[in-house]
Amino acid sequence: MSCSLRPVGRAQRAQLERLTRATGVFQPEEVAVAVELLDESLAGDDDYRFLGSYAGDELTGYACWGPTPGTRGTYDLYWIVVEPAWQGKGVGTQLLAAVERQLLADGCRLIVVETSSRAEYVPTRGFYERRGYRPAARLPGYYAPGDDLMIYLKDLTDGVLARTTA
Ligand SMILES: CC(C)(COP(=O)(O)OP(=O)(O)OC[C@H]1O[C@@H](n2cnc3c(N)ncnc32)[C@H](O)[C@@H]1OP(=O)(O)O)[C@@H](O)C(=O)NCCC(=O)NCCS
Repeated sequence: MSCSLRPVGRAQRAQLERLTRATGVFQPEEVAVAVELLDESLAGDDDYRFLGSYAGDELTGYACWGPTPGTRGTYDLYWIVVEPAWQGKGVGTQLLAAVERQLLADGCRLIVVETSSRAEYVPTRGFYERRGYRPAARLPGYYAPGDDLMIYLKDLTDGVLARTTA
């Protein structure tokens, strides 16, 4: 099932907060950060770019990414979130493919994704790995004792982009 993709505006601020919280995997302060980044983006900060997926007027998911400061052609994918009722229906794949196409057009070379080693993130890590993201580093205890930072990379120059299908 596919959604339509378009920017996230001020009108979607509350929906974005609600759906980020509804996933149940983010801490309250992480939810606040997502909203903060949207506010910065809407205020004109080009370091944070948002794309939303929609069913009619309903925001069903979003991605947030931006250039990694101090690098050449490296971008961080900060967030990709799909509303629980919409998960597993291809929306995340659709969003990820659209972000990658945009990044390629913007001259991006390398995409960095940070996630957690916690058990709740097993499906998320599988989602990335099956779309060409390779585990590059693991920082033990980074988020909390027993909760490691997992860093994934996708090199857009090595021809694996075709592996993310929308
Ligand atoms: C990870 C996430 C963005 C994937 O989006 P999605 O729309 O559910 O994914 P799709 O339907 O396009 O693809 C399904 C794939 O994702 C995996 N997946 C990950 N989380 C899933 C979930 N909660 N429900 C269903 N499938 C999920 C499936 O195993 C499936 O893998 P495969 O196609 O390689 O076999 C979404 O599930 C989500 O928002 N999860 C919670 C928030 C999160 O972890 N975000 C990433 C960290 S910032």
